[in-house]
Amino acid sequence: MKKKIIRIKKLKSKRKLVCLTAYSKPLAKILDKHCDIILVGDSIATAFYGMKNTWSLSLETIINHAKAVRAGIKKSTFVVDMPFNTYKNIFVAKKNVKKVFKLTKCDAIKIESNGRNFKIISKLVKLGYPVMGHIGFTPQYKNKFKPEGINKIQENKLINEAKKIENSGAFSIVLECINARTAKKITNEIKIPTIGIGSSKDCDGQILVTDDLIGLSGFYPRFVKKYINLNNIMNKVFKKFRYEVINNKFPKKINTY
Ligand code: KIV
Repeated sequence: MKKKIIRIKKLKSKRKLVCLTAYSKPLAKILDKHCDIILVGDSIATAFYGMKNTWSLSLETIINHAKAVRAGIKKSTFVVDMPFNTYKNIFVAKKNVKKVFKLTKCDAIKIESNGRNFKIISKLVKLGYPVMGHIGFTPQYKNKFKPEGINKIQENKLINEAKKIENSGAFSIVLECINARTAKKITNEIKIPTIGIGSSKDCDGQILVTDDLIGLSGFYPRFVKKYINLNNIMNKVFKKFRYEVINNKFPKKINTY
């Protein structure tokens, strides 16, 4: 198994994993200093392109962004999300995953679980492609946001799903919006790292959509901590630029040839 993937797996018992999303080279360059994993998530559909959901994001779009992000990464483990429908059966998955690895030079891909696609994960892993799983609220398969794993039946279902993904050979699993008690149980019952988003501090690591955490996306559910409000800051900057252009205060001599 590749060195970077082994390192991520080993961190489970050592310290929490730090993971964020990036869609561009400049952002990836900054995140690379701080993250264990950088993900080009299909959240790009909503957070960057303003689409209503992730369903119509194309493979080409995510590949183009992933190429840019790759150029900004030196050390982090680089994961690319497979868009909806691009891994719907083994034949399609093999073709598209091969293309993603070839064109983006990523270290791994991420696949959302629909509760049935374990064989696809296992086939891809056997072919040498590291896979990150994703369970709980999986936006490609669910259209209404709802926390998962609340009652015993849901809890057992999620634990079972996580174990099946682990047994398929995935090197880690994203747990999205899973009840804290269930997320803790999953984390304790599997050997691969769990990476939580809205799934409590008991996961082995945390991931957020960077645009949410910096206050740029306009999407602020309770699991997002807005570390800075770039929206407000940028509004002030552009207001000042407008003022200076209109009032002939920009450009000055120093900005002119
Ligand atoms: O698409 C994405 O950014 C994701 C993360 C939220 C885990 O899947």
